[in-house]
Amino acid sequence: MVPSNRDQRWPNYEKRKAGLLVLLFTHAAYAIGATGAEASGFIAIPLVKTYNLKEPDFDPPNSLFVNGGALYGESQPDTSKLLHALNLDIEWDDYGYLATIQIGTPPRDFKLLVDSGSADLWVPGEGCQAGDGSGDCGNHTLLGPTFSSSFRHSGEFWMVKYGSGPVAGHIVSDHVTVAGLTLKSHRFALALRESKHYTLNRTLYDGIMGLARTVGWNHNLPSLVESLHGAGLIKRPIVSYRIPRAADGRSDGELAFGGMNPAKYKAASVVTLKNIGPIRFWEARMDSIVINGITLRIGRRSAILDSGTTFILGPRKDVALLHTAIPGSRFSDGLWYIPCHTEVVLSLSFGGRAFPIQPRDLRATPLNKDDPNAECKSRIGEMRGRGGSQWIVGDVFLKNVYFSTNLEKNEISLAELA
Ligand SMILES: *[C@@H]1O[C@H](CO)[C@@H](O)[C@H](O)[C@H]1NC(C)=O
Ligand SMILES: *[C@@H]1O[C@H](CO)[C@@H](O)[C@H](O)[C@H]1NC(C)=O
Repeated sequence: MVPSNRDQRWPNYEKRKAGLLVLLFTHAAYAIGATGAEASGFIAIPLVKTYNLKEPDFDPPNSLFVNGGALYGESQPDTSKLLHALNLDIEWDDYGYLATIQIGTPPRDFKLLVDSGSADLWVPGEGCQAGDGSGDCGNHTLLGPTFSSSFRHSGEFWMVKYGSGPVAGHIVSDHVTVAGLTLKSHRFALALRESKHYTLNRTLYDGIMGLARTVGWNHNLPSLVESLHGAGLIKRPIVSYRIPRAADGRSDGELAFGGMNPAKYKAASVVTLKNIGPIRFWEARMDSIVINGITLRIGRRSAILDSGTTFILGPRKDVALLHTAIPGSRFSDGLWYIPCHTEVVLSLSFGGRAFPIQPRDLRATPLNKDDPNAECKSRIGEMRGRGGSQWIVGDVFLKNVYFSTNLEKNEISLAELA
């Protein structure tokens, strides 16, 4: 998720009313192309964990495709190994990707949304409340002194605001185990107020694992990969993503720490890109967009590669140009529609290599449930509130490639999947 970049203040706990207002506006930003958010003067980085694309009869997602594959380092951590990996579970229809880590003494499982677009790790704390006063933080695993004897509270305030709303609490420390590697007294955040989105029982993750660069974020919390590297548990501060697709029905999703997993990508296809984002993000120069072999004239563009964003979001002009090149596309009421059975081949080019997106990844829900073969909402949408040359490239693209970030070199690698 790419947090809002304008208003970083959050209502403290006393100013609950103001908080509610903010929450309402942020939720407006859920809908791709929604207007209210812009008018409010509040950021509209349209979203991210998009449960509600203006769909009144939308079934709430509550299915989880559990990745059962046996992987590295689960039971016998061997720190001489280069790679230590976690399975990635799929939230609903590829809306998000979840990894399970252990926190506390005794260690308990926490399911976290894997987010290369933010930097903080947080889990809900004992006493956590919904920011709108509607109740507790739902059916999620909580952390606190009752559950963990190694839990330590710093009392320091913490807050981050995502497209789907703010989360606030305190900075704490506890033992954290990732793919069998244990960090003693890792510093992270404990959420005590969450926007409604995160408290829902149907939200299948407890908290968020931010894997962006930590420079430029407010609280200077070390990311998991920084701590693992600093503690000598991984040799290189690299995180690699094999983002899976629910429709494939395979357990091939993986989040690897320490390197790239040679079993998951074609070695000859790797392109390595300089991170051009000055702070915060994994951002690469995007050479071009190619549709059915034709290169669109969009000029100099960059892409924030964000596993925590479901869709692909771009400047309005680019998004319009792109859809216009898709046969049968249509724009209506702020949204783009494409034929559900489009066979269009759309590629994003990085480092001189075009990476195609499977046509089925481009479509979201059918417009008309009674005619699911007709028009579908596009999974490429307009973004507001950021410069006209920046894209946020989420899972719609990332599940078509192998994606890796290297903190030490400040580089991003992309490769074709094996
Ligand atoms: C959420 O789950 C908890 C525990 O299972 C349950 O007590 C609570 O009523 C649920 N909340 C809603 C709104 O369904
Ligand atoms: C609460 O969470 C547990 C474990 O994730 C799940 O099995 C159960 O169905 C959930 N209950 C509700 C009411 O969502």
